[in-house]
Order: sequence, then C-alpha cells, then structure tokens
Amino acid sequence: MTSLLILNGPNLNLLGTRQPEIYGATTLAEIEALCRTHAKSHGVEIVFAQSNHEGEMVDLIHAARESHAGIILNAGAYTHTSIALMDAIQSVEIPTIELHLSNIHAREKFRKKSFIAKVVLGQICGFGAAGYPLAIDAMLAHLR
Ligand code: DQA
Repeated sequence: MTSLLILNGPNLNLLGTRQPEIYGATTLAEIEALCRTHAKSHGVEIVFAQSNHEGEMVDLIHAARESHAGIILNAGAYTHTSIALMDAIQSVEIPTIELHLSNIHAREKFRKKSFIAKVVLGQICGFGAAGYPLAIDAMLAHLR
C-alpha cells in the first residue's frame, strides 16, 4: 500500500491555541484525524509526525527512503531558514509537497522566502487545515 509521510515542523504542536486568527482553531491532533480519514478513503497509509528540532526532521526525511512514496512537509519557520532541510529533500529524491496553513506570500516579507520551494513538486498554502487533504490529493495525482 502506498505510504506518505506528513511531517510538521516547529510550533505546529501548538495549533489550536497558537495565533488562531492566522493558523485557525484546529489542533494538530484534529488535522491528523482529518488526514487519516482522507488517506483511508483513498486506500493509502500515512505516518503523521511533528518535531520542533531541525536535525530530527532531517532524520525523518532520510528514514522516509525506506517506507514512503511521498512527503508532505509543513516545515514551519524552518521553511524560511533551513538549507539542511532543502538538502535532505534533494538527497532522498522522494517527491515532496510544501504545505502551509497560512498564505506565506501575504504575510511578512521574510516568510516569502522558502529554501525548500526549489526542491519540491509544488506549494499549497493559505487554505488552513483543508490544505492537508488537498496536499494528499495532489501527491496521489502525482504518484499515479
Ligand atoms: C507556517 C508558516 C510559517 O511561516 C510559520 O513559521 C509556521 C507555520 C504555516 O503553516 O502557515 O510555523 O508553516
């Protein structure tokens, strides 16, 4: 069965209470449940993970080579800073979609810069929690 890694970066464990006017009121556990239901209806497996640590995220991306056909990555603030995550995605050669709850292009200038944008299939941003099932659909369309 096709398996996808859905990897969330720093501070996303605080969703629900973290700036809900920007990120919405849905918790990460609720987003995980949404993803599980959506994935099940499409006959795919998911591993849903969150880490506040850049190196741990690099390790999870490396480990994905063994078991995942695609990665959906909300790298949080590491999006805007991390050459290490960019290199990891490029190194493993697993199709990856960049995902953000908020529209990073409509916010502060520093959020417009994504180091990972150049090594991903594409970017989904601005749709809140609904972006997660959209990213699953986009990945499955790519893998088909
Ligand atoms: C985010 C956008 C980032 O700029 C921010 O640092 C986050 C969340 C989003 O999902 O909108 O932590 O990735």
